[in-house]
Amino acid sequence: MNLEQFAKERLGGIRDRATYRRMRVLDGAQAPRMSVDGKEVWLFAGSNYLDLASHPEVVEAAARAAKDWGCAAGGSRLITGNLTLHEELEAELAAFFGSEAALVFNTGYMANVGVIPALCGAGDVVVSDALNHASIVDGCRLSRADVRVFAHGDADALEAALREVCDGRRQVLVALDGVYSMDGDVAPLEVMVPLAKRHGALVLVDDAHGTGTLGPRGRGAHELRGVADGIDVLMGTLGKSLGSFGAFVAGSAALRDLLVNTARSFIFSCALAPPQVEAARVALGLVEREPWRRERLNAHAVRLRERLGTHGVDTAPSTTHIVPVVLGASARTMAVCERLLERGFYAQGIRHPSVPEGTARLRITPMASHPPEAVDALADAVAEEVAASA
Ligand SMILES: Cc1ncc(COP(=O)(O)O)c(C=O)c1O
Repeated sequence: MNLEQFAKERLGGIRDRATYRRMRVLDGAQAPRMSVDGKEVWLFAGSNYLDLASHPEVVEAAARAAKDWGCAAGGSRLITGNLTLHEELEAELAAFFGSEAALVFNTGYMANVGVIPALCGAGDVVVSDALNHASIVDGCRLSRADVRVFAHGDADALEAALREVCDGRRQVLVALDGVYSMDGDVAPLEVMVPLAKRHGALVLVDDAHGTGTLGPRGRGAHELRGVADGIDVLMGTLGKSLGSFGAFVAGSAALRDLLVNTARSFIFSCALAPPQVEAARVALGLVEREPWRRERLNAHAVRLRERLGTHGVDTAPSTTHIVPVVLGASARTMAVCERLLERGFYAQGIRHPSVPEGTARLRITPMASHPPEAVDALADAVAEEVAASA
């Protein structure tokens, strides 16, 4: 079969299931209000939660780094790409999280597909929450370990799986998201982490959406849940609330050393470019210095959930700045998304395979810098369009 024929058949099936995707075009810096497909709208679909991507100090740091260090690291970290800047960012990340060490990766996806096979191989077991991010799923596949998927957020199900697989002979890794990216709920880390430890398992927490946004000091889901110890691998991203690009793993010096030597997505890839590294470093300082950003983000999320609730729109199970409105059918979800765009709001419709079949939803994400009136107007518009689509 030639490529055209193959693509037509594959895409035909995707269209039939109303899950065909096209990329919208945004024009300008990420901001609460911006041009989407040529129309000025309020943006409620991004991950630049703290609005740091175009913060003057972050932009200045990236520009300065480009001038002083150039636009590329020039190689992988193990050959010519390991710059003073990387080591400094890693030392600052380790200090921020109170870990012995940290290591940056080029994306969160690459971190998960590198770390999991570095910790587990054939004969080992990954015990994975059913709603973990696709990069954890793919990391599990690459590892060749056995995978035990347990019901989302269910500590009893986790315990049952651990009882079965922890025999003291093979490596067992419990993999959790800190904040579930399509549901906005927080993993019960205060229960699950000690549980995993009691059974002798390692724990990986992917806190892509909690880093910078949750906890009194922005350390993430574990800080919010009061978990100080027991997380062996804390993964977070630099491309969401930190307004840059890339990811990191915080943990022990032994973990860092192991990853440098065995994580293939770290070893066989060019290092992060200087502007991204410096932007992330300055953004990390802003998370520390400007707590009002996460406070405002979280206040917006509460306001949004409450206002939707008064209109009878369910946002369960969200307790964070990721606010889902589950509509079920893909076609209905995308129709509501388009109607909202016409009314000047961009809240993305999310369909299978990003979420389980039959649970398509609007995924609404406010930013710290939205005016509260925009949050209210969006909630009212969502409620009206959801009702009209029923
Ligand atoms: C929970 C989670 N983990 C990992 C990633 C991947 O991070 P990145 O976009 O840096 O590849 C995402 C991105 O959306 C995510 O939501």
